[in-house]
Amino acid sequence: MDEKSGGRRTRDNIRIYSPADFAGMHAAGRVAAEILDEIAPLVFPGQTTAEIDRVITEKVQAKGSTSATIGYKGYQHASCISVNHVVCHGIPGDKVLKDGDILNIDVTVIVDGWFGDTSRMYVAGKLSRKAERLIQVTHDALMKGIEAVKPGNTFGDIGAAIQTYVEANRMSVVRDFCGHGLGRVFHAPPNVLHYGRAGLGPVLEEGMFFTIEPMVNLGRPETKVLSDDWTAVARDKSLSAQFEHSIGVTADGYDIFTLSPAGKFYPTWG
Ligand code: MF3
Ligand code: CO
Ligand code: CO
Repeated sequence: MDEKSGGRRTRDNIRIYSPADFAGMHAAGRVAAEILDEIAPLVFPGQTTAEIDRVITEKVQAKGSTSATIGYKGYQHASCISVNHVVCHGIPGDKVLKDGDILNIDVTVIVDGWFGDTSRMYVAGKLSRKAERLIQVTHDALMKGIEAVKPGNTFGDIGAAIQTYVEANRMSVVRDFCGHGLGRVFHAPPNVLHYGRAGLGPVLEEGMFFTIEPMVNLGRPETKVLSDDWTAVARDKSLSAQFEHSIGVTADGYDIFTLSPAGKFYPTWG
């Protein structure tokens, strides 16, 4: 298969895509990012996460794309919506948003076989100072990780950039979940850790596609998964935030596939 499609894999089993493949990733990433732009007005106190997911499901279809999460390992929704102390993989439902809630909405679509995976933070009503600081640090940590992406650097450089910044701000990086290779598949090698040591890990090469999606807690980094087998929460119930981009490594840096066409990646409000 790889031979047929001209694909090559590194010694760490990371797929190297061709320059032409970047266009496919841009198309998929744009659809996912547009959906996250368009649902921003739906986030307000009194709204349910099920209603937000219903509109996302509709938009995925209307844009001629497919949800990557519906049917994935038995998951039944077009988005994950993770409120307050939920770290990731929150399941949309009758939960009613209340004033001051912060939430991550994560959408993955498939367009012509290419996967676009992105998430960002929203607020229902008024944002508290501590939540604002958490969200800002998490966004900036993602961007510091992305800025470490160029051929010759390592995955450890990405993790170290994120961890150093988060811990300098006296917050913690979740270790139990990581970013991932993607492309024509949802989750592929490598695991993209959001912590680590500069210079360690696989070397970045032009044509690698992966996500960076740090989860940051105001308290301790430990998580636990609830009995629904999906919802991951901060063990100490502290507030948690996450941002995610899908990116590709270029000859001299990176290409972000999931940029917000409306310029609303951060902040989504105001
Ligand atoms: N989009 C998530 C990620 O960033 C994965 C969600 S899988 C699901 O990798 F099944 F929970 F939707
Ligand atoms: Co992802
Ligand atoms: Co995602």
